[in-house]
Amino acid sequence: MSNKLRIGVVGCGGILEWAHFPAYMKMDNVELVAFCDILTERAEKFSKKYFEAGKTDKKPAVFENFSDLIKMEGIDAVDICTPNYLHSIVAVEALENGLHVFCEKPDAVSVSEAERMKAASEASGKVLMIMRNQRYDNSTRYLKDRIAEGKMGEIYAARCGWQRRRGGPPHGSWFSKKEESGGGPLIDLGVHMIDRTMWLMGNPKPVSVSGCTYNVFGDNGSGSGLLPEGTKSTFSVEDLAMAFVRFENGACLQVEVSWASNVKTDDIFFELRGTKEGAVQNQNTKGRLTVVSADGDFNPDLSAYSEAQGHEGNIRHFADVVLNGAEPMFVPQQGINMVKILEAIYKSAETGKEIFL
Ligand SMILES: NC(=O)c1ccc[n+]([C@@H]2O[C@H](COP(=O)([O-])OP(=O)(O)OC[C@H]3O[C@@H](n4cnc5c(N)ncnc54)[C@H](O)[C@@H]3O)[C@@H](O)[C@H]2O)c1
Repeated sequence: MSNKLRIGVVGCGGILEWAHFPAYMKMDNVELVAFCDILTERAEKFSKKYFEAGKTDKKPAVFENFSDLIKMEGIDAVDICTPNYLHSIVAVEALENGLHVFCEKPDAVSVSEAERMKAASEASGKVLMIMRNQRYDNSTRYLKDRIAEGKMGEIYAARCGWQRRRGGPPHGSWFSKKEESGGGPLIDLGVHMIDRTMWLMGNPKPVSVSGCTYNVFGDNGSGSGLLPEGTKSTFSVEDLAMAFVRFENGACLQVEVSWASNVKTDDIFFELRGTKEGAVQNQNTKGRLTVVSADGDFNPDLSAYSEAQGHEGNIRHFADVVLNGAEPMFVPQQGINMVKILEAIYKSAETGKEIFL
């Protein structure tokens, strides 16, 4: 391997544009060597931009087919930014061809796929990491340290959610087609909040799940009004999910996520209940973190946690793990546990029963 990590990106849409690419533009220990998209003009656009910014001496290769990118000379890793159903397909092929993998969330659209990804990583000895950008937010890192110092006691219960009043994907988007996305706001937004909360709870093992999902607004959940006349709905996922998860250590987690729901306002929130202190953060209260206890509440100073946050923090960590052998903060078993929870919520919603994992 050269002293830079040579990455090829598969899927050149929204998340590459606003999160991954800006991070790579700031990084010096990574070189983007290829871009792939079935819409090759998108791959070409990023290749040109990266080259013209002087980030590389050689214009990154452009591919339409991800198998060609995986097999190219001089590539160490792939960054997967495709629709969800392709995550495990691209990841397993890349791992089997000796590449490290960084992949967008959700880990996979089924437990068996997440297990195949873990097995392929173990067989090849290559790193497999899934985006967990919320672990890199300053408030999450602050709380992780505070919990590790024992100040909050044991975290035995939590709530989290991401609620949109009207904020679904545009009509016809892959996000709203079950066969391409694996689900609606639960797999899209819930995965972030569930991971953030479970990470702070110390990643307890989930043992049972109960959930309900609803599809009330469908394609109209984007807030754009009724579908144009003669247009058929392609919306085959939920627009609201509510769930309750129990863990092996007796802790529990309540989850609420929506793309469309008659709630007063949009909100992104999580709340921890610890034996010594609690913590709460709501987008509604301008995202300020509050630590709560019998001695009074306070908004902690997060200035010591201002280094690379969110997606950039996570991508930098991936490079550090591959290049310098840093201790990975994500291991594939956490991905399997995550998909087990998501899958069980859908199964519980379908059967009307609590699912035991
Ligand atoms: N971590 C986050 O905060 C966050 C936010 C948004 C999206 N995401 C995730 O990122 C992934 C991509 O989402 P997006 O919003 O960028 O979607 P998008 O639709 O904007 O982009 C996906 C791209 O993949 C391309 N594509 C489709 N099939 C392909 C194939 N076979 N080979 C190569 N390219 C292919 C599409 O043409 C498109 O350009 C999803 O898994 C999504 O869940 C994560």
